[in-house]
Amino acid sequence: KTIALLTGGTTGEWVISVKSAATIAQNLDADKFDVYKIMLSQQGWFYEPADSVKIEVDRNDFSLTIKGRKIKFDGVYIAIHGSPGEDGKLQGYFDMLQLPYTTCDALTSAITMNKGYTKAIAAGIDQLSIARSVQIFKDAHYDLGHIKNELNSPYFVKPNNGGSSIGMSKVNHVNDLDAAVAKAFKEDTQVLIEEFISGREFTVGVVKLDGKITILPVTEVETAKEFFDFEAKYTPGVATETTPALIRPETRDRVARIAEAVYVKLNCRGVVRIDFILKEDEGEFYFIEINTVPGQTATSFIPQQVAAMGLKLNDFYTKLIRETIG
Ligand code: DAL
Ligand code: MG
Repeated sequence: KTIALLTGGTTGEWVISVKSAATIAQNLDADKFDVYKIMLSQQGWFYEPADSVKIEVDRNDFSLTIKGRKIKFDGVYIAIHGSPGEDGKLQGYFDMLQLPYTTCDALTSAITMNKGYTKAIAAGIDQLSIARSVQIFKDAHYDLGHIKNELNSPYFVKPNNGGSSIGMSKVNHVNDLDAAVAKAFKEDTQVLIEEFISGREFTVGVVKLDGKITILPVTEVETAKEFFDFEAKYTPGVATETTPALIRPETRDRVARIAEAVYVKLNCRGVVRIDFILKEDEGEFYFIEINTVPGQTATSFIPQQVAAMGLKLNDFYTKLIRETIG
């Protein structure tokens, strides 16, 4: 199969996308897949072969013409975190071209990119708790004084469509809320102010392989920092990540059931990763968010979880492509 592997993107997460695509490229079996890595950026959409000048993609049919030969793809591996790879834009474009891709569809991608809207849908899922929050809009009136009365501090303040914790703050004192909101509005026109939930943090990979929804081994994340921020996420040693997590089997089964219910209710496809906080004493699971293009750098959770279930990463990608592209 001829596969386009898309990397780059237009947000601050593009650096992570480059690393994710590198892992994926290394683990796509050369005897099964003919892979063309294509960089999408503000400068354009380019295939950058090592041995010649870069070639621009024809956006009419997403094809390449190399030395007079037209190359069309059987499918697309979208490895772009954030826009336009995780928010439904490329998914809508590829749907129009009838070109299969590895991720959730346009609607699910668009909804899940928005943390507030996703929480509203996830709120109906059995045994899943949702932190109280308020979603505010840059161009609409909001009253932080009122929000401070409504929600208990500490707070998490997040750009609503963000990723990798960019623009996020944990606010311990109500007096610092205004500055955190201003910081988040630099990244986005919508901001989510959530009550902070104290507990252990877990992340769960979910993927449909061989026609069956599979829950990957659960990871626990611990950091000495105030929260699992960009630095803790991508600097080796700043966070401790344990896969499989040391939790009671019944707690593991509970989060697996919840994660599968989230995957089904949001009509997910491909591999996603769902983040949770588990309240003290293995109490309720709180939903944080779902990542529909989860990080796949060499040290990211998904490769760790695939290894922990005893599956080789190249076999995982083969199955994922068979399932989503055919
Ligand atoms: N948004 C980052 C890439 C993740 O969820 O892994
Ligand atoms: Mg995320």
